[in-house]
Amino acid sequence: MTSTTRFPAEFAWGAAAAAYQIEGATTEDGRGESIWDRFCATPGKVRAGESGAVACDFYHRYPEDIALMRDLGLDAFRFSIAWPRVVPDGRGRVNEAGLDFYDRLVDELLDQGIQPFPTLYHWDLPQPLEDAGGWPVRATAEAFVEYVEAVAARLSDRVTHWITHNEPWVASWLGYASGEHAPGRTSPADALAAAHHLLLSHGWAAEVLRRASADAKVGITLVLVPAYPASESEGDRLAARHGDGFFNRWFLDPLYRGCYPADILDYFVPATPPIVHGDLETIAAPLDFLGINYYSRQVLRENPDGGRPLLERVADASYTDMGWEIYPDGLFDALVRLRDEYDPPSIYITENGAAFSDHRDHNGEVKDLERQEYIAEHLAAVARAVDAGVPVDGYFLWSLLDNFEWAHGYSKRFGIVYVDYPTLERVPKDSFYWYRDFIASRARRPQPSPIATG
Ligand code: FCB
Repeated sequence: MTSTTRFPAEFAWGAAAAAYQIEGATTEDGRGESIWDRFCATPGKVRAGESGAVACDFYHRYPEDIALMRDLGLDAFRFSIAWPRVVPDGRGRVNEAGLDFYDRLVDELLDQGIQPFPTLYHWDLPQPLEDAGGWPVRATAEAFVEYVEAVAARLSDRVTHWITHNEPWVASWLGYASGEHAPGRTSPADALAAAHHLLLSHGWAAEVLRRASADAKVGITLVLVPAYPASESEGDRLAARHGDGFFNRWFLDPLYRGCYPADILDYFVPATPPIVHGDLETIAAPLDFLGINYYSRQVLRENPDGGRPLLERVADASYTDMGWEIYPDGLFDALVRLRDEYDPPSIYITENGAAFSDHRDHNGEVKDLERQEYIAEHLAAVARAVDAGVPVDGYFLWSLLDNFEWAHGYSKRFGIVYVDYPTLERVPKDSFYWYRDFIASRARRPQPSPIATG
């Protein structure tokens, strides 16, 4: 480690969440159906048939949760806006009651001194748009622009930082190719088209947001999964290069270089992204910041049968409850690589955190030392990157509350606040107090050892 021990004074300390994972109230105030409502209602798709119908009931309890954020000392809160609340049919009529909710949320955050960082799309596509073809069709990108116009007209007097999309890799590949996420389709060609239209709609939305306010700062959030070869062999190095291309370069290259990576384009043949003249210029319009979500890395080995590279499980490593390897150096490597190869003017870590199987002890407390260590080690990696000159401007912990973890339902707890789902009671975990003390100290480099709680 180098010697500097400070995050910049203006560094934003935050927490992140997404509409479908916390809000509940899926049928209130004119909200339309989303692909996640439909997916959850489809037998066998989500663990134990669970859904976001109630989730954390953030829709009604947000003042209580913002009070928790204030106790934490957060500078910023990343949430997402549910498209089906704003445009219930996907196109056409704007539901003012849906916008009213985000209006109240933004005001309450600002009243408590917390900067709102909305994400415009965190995977809850209106079901009528999926019925009309979903993200694989270009019209969905056009519909997204109409929705963003409605949101910007209402909120851009108070919101400056906007994230257009969350993890287009997951939205396209898990939604349209593997079928693990809504809408549950299994066509790689559809995933390729979906990914292109997500990126295109990002570019169009950025224009809308900048037109709506000269102060707008626009970014997109990618999940970065740095790829490492299982050995120094040429085959394993090529396997890692492929994994990096598929997850990371496929999105970074069009956003920062205006082209898709040639090696991965070749790999997808005969499928190709449905590029229309001018699309890549739209996608590559300069971003004010890049959001990155980091959870883990991938270690890849050449497939002896010549097929897709094989994911290797690392012996001796620790894993979270998601089965994801804990590898803080990967965050440092990803940040330095971004600076060296893509040079974004500003980066926010828009998600980082870990699921562990938390329990309330006989005193009702949650002693989540593993999560505390995970966060501390990853913050140390961010500090090293800042020391190395990478322009990281903020960190959003995933997540404030335990919440609906997509196809895993409520079985994976990522919160620094425990949610007792039967009663919806919020119980700050030890990591909550640790993060609070860390934010209060700010100038101190995070120590991977526990600090006194409560
Ligand atoms: C990310 C998602 C977020 C959450 C975390 C654990 O991929 O953006 O909604 O599910 O993983």
